[in-house]
Amino acid sequence: MTVSTELDPDNIPTHVAVIMDGNGRWAQKRGLPRPIGHKQGIGSVQDIVRTAGELGVKFLTLYAFSTENWNRPASEVQALMGLLKNFLQSELKTISANNVSLRCLGQRQRLPAEVRDVLEHAINQTADNSGLILNLALSYGGRNEIVRAIRQISEKCRAGLLDPAEIDDQLVAEHLDTAGQPDPDLLIRTGGESRLSNFLLWQLSYAELYITETLWPDFRKNEFISALADFQKRQRRFGKTSNQVG
Ligand code: IPE
Ligand code: IPE
Ligand code: MG
Repeated sequence: MTVSTELDPDNIPTHVAVIMDGNGRWAQKRGLPRPIGHKQGIGSVQDIVRTAGELGVKFLTLYAFSTENWNRPASEVQALMGLLKNFLQSELKTISANNVSLRCLGQRQRLPAEVRDVLEHAINQTADNSGLILNLALSYGGRNEIVRAIRQISEKCRAGLLDPAEIDDQLVAEHLDTAGQPDPDLLIRTGGESRLSNFLLWQLSYAELYITETLWPDFRKNEFISALADFQKRQRRFGKTSNQVG
């Protein structure tokens, strides 16, 4: 299906990363319990995954649960894990039908076993799909990801497989959870906060930032298209002068 938009089809970001924030406030504004906001946010996930695929985005990374989110009240963590499990079970058919390949960033082993099982099933079932790559960041923290990479690299040095002088940007990137994927071109944060909250600290070094006050459950197709339209107005200079890149 094609989307009629004001977008330049030759300047669609290859990789879009999203901090899906504002579910709790969405619910609280309506006098509802916070998990209702998370539930409502699933509709936005479905909408954005579909739209990203239609527009030709190749990689979509969604921050669903941070390492710091484990510190929320147990009842909220439990509600989120339940929603995640249901989402993975109920969406698998649609994800597969849309040729989406599901991946996971973060500390998978910290997730409850029943969530891990459905997650791994969904990852395996969609591994050969050739369309949009959907990274779900779950129990993910940028610092933790870098620490794990440093440990792996150090082990290789200790085993004599690697000389520290060979460590460069590319080698570090190959030891991150996003190994083999390009860095995000665009970071969208809903809910209005101007911070990274420990998301993709290495990979976001040259991403364009787009922050919107819109709360995640209200962030749908048209908002996503607006974010991409804004991205298309940016001049990405990567340290050079505008004359050099213009
Ligand atoms: C984002 O919404 C979802 C997760 C962090 C899991 P929040 O739950 O952080 O919503 P606010 O920021 O409290 O509104
Ligand atoms: C960031 O949102 C994490 C996710 C969206 C999963 P938070 O709501 O946890 O971020 P802070 O705590 O406001 O920085
Ligand atoms: Mg929040």
